[in-house]
Amino acid sequence: MIDRYNETMESEFLPLIKSTMANNQRKSGGHFYTVPSDRAYPYQWLWDSCWHALIYSYYQPELAEKEIETLLTKQWENGMVPHVIYWERDHDVYPVDWGVDTNTTTLIQPPVIAYTALRIFEKTSNTDWLQRIFPKLVKWHEYLARERQLPNRNIYGIINPDESGEDNSPRFDIALDLPPIHDVEENQKKRFALFDVHKQNAFKANQGTHEHFWVEDVPFNIFTLESVRSLSRIAEILGDQTKSDQLLQQADQTAEDLRRYCFSDGVFLSAMGPSQPLIEVDTWAHFAPLFAGLYSPEEASELIDKYFNSPRHFSTPFSIPTVSQSDEAYAPTEPDFGQPWQHPHWRGPIWMVVNWCVYQGLKRYGFNEEAAKLKTSTEELIRKSGMREYYHPETGQGMGADRFTWAGLILDMN
Ligand code: GLC
Repeated sequence: MIDRYNETMESEFLPLIKSTMANNQRKSGGHFYTVPSDRAYPYQWLWDSCWHALIYSYYQPELAEKEIETLLTKQWENGMVPHVIYWERDHDVYPVDWGVDTNTTTLIQPPVIAYTALRIFEKTSNTDWLQRIFPKLVKWHEYLARERQLPNRNIYGIINPDESGEDNSPRFDIALDLPPIHDVEENQKKRFALFDVHKQNAFKANQGTHEHFWVEDVPFNIFTLESVRSLSRIAEILGDQTKSDQLLQQADQTAEDLRRYCFSDGVFLSAMGPSQPLIEVDTWAHFAPLFAGLYSPEEASELIDKYFNSPRHFSTPFSIPTVSQSDEAYAPTEPDFGQPWQHPHWRGPIWMVVNWCVYQGLKRYGFNEEAAKLKTSTEELIRKSGMREYYHPETGQGMGADRFTWAGLILDMN
C-alpha cells in the first residue's frame, strides 16, 4: 500500500515535515492526535487537525484517519464539533473558563472535516472508515445549517472572530467596534468577552449570541460549501443517493446566496446579516471563492489582474499577504505582546493555509503561472525560515510559534 505514496515522498521538505509532525504527535486516553506547535499550541484544534490529516494522507494515511476520528470523539449532542479539545490541560495556554465540563471550547472553526475526509478516502479507498465517520459528519452539518444560519439566508455566520480561524483579521474590526489600527491586547479582550456572552446565552448561536457578534465570513462559507459538496460525494460513495442530492442542493443554495448577498464590485465581501452594509476590507478573502469555483472565468481574470498581481495589493516579495498592502489595517510585523497564542496575527503576514487554499483555487481556474509563482514563494519561505506559524511578506522572516505544522501543506501543492 505504501508504494502508492512514493511519488509524493520525493518532496525536498518531507524529512522536515515528517520530523515536525512526529515531534507534535500525542496520545491521550488511547486517542491519537497532533498539536499544531509543541509549546505554543499544546491541544487539538479543529481545522489544524484537518490540515494534519491532509499532510499525513501523503505518507502515513492511517494517521490521517486516526486524527479525524479523534477530532470527532468530542462532538456535542447537538452535533457541534468544538474548535479545541483540551486533552491535556496546560494552564498557561488558553486558560478560559468555557462554562462546560466537556474539556472543550464552545466555539467552532471552519468545518473542513468532510472535505478532508473525502481527500483521504481518495488515497485509501477505505469505505469502512468513511462509513464510521459519515453519521457524525451528517450531524455536524445539520448543526451548521440549523444553528449557523439566519432565517431565509443560506449562508453561515460565526459568533466570534476565532471561529474563522483568523482571530484578529480586519474583517472583524467593524463587528468588534474597533478602528483599523488598534492594540492587539484590546482586540483579544473583545474576543474573550464574547466567550462569556456565548456562555450567558446557553450556547445558542443564532438565538442569542448572534445579537452581539454575527459575521457571514467569506472564507468560512467557502470552506463550508466545499465540505457540504464533499459530504454529498461521500453519501453517494456510500450509496445514499437521496442524502447526496439533498446536500448538493444545500450547497447550491449557499452558492446562490453568497452571490445574491455578498457579491459587490467584482469581489465577495463578508456580511453582518441582512440589515448591515458589507464589510469593505481588502483581505485574501477576495481569492477564497476561487477554491469553490464561485467566480466566472472573466471575473476571476479581473480579480487576478486587479488584486493578485498588483504591487499595490497582494504582490509582495514573498506571497501572499493576508491583507492587501493598500488596506489601512495592513500590519505585517509580529506584535510585541505575550505568548504566541495571544497574538496570532492575521493583519498582513503570510499563513500557509491561505497559500494552500489560494493555490488550489488558481489551479482550479487554470492560472498555472500564478500558481507556480505562489508555490515557489511558499518553498522559499520554508527554505529560509522553516516551519513557522506565519511569515513576513516583505522579508520572509518567520514569526509566531515555531515547529508549526501548517507548512506541511506544501505536499498538497502539486
Ligand atoms: C491560532 C490561529 C488558528 C489556529 C490556532 C492553532 O489561534 O489563529 O487559526 O487554529 O492558532 O494553531
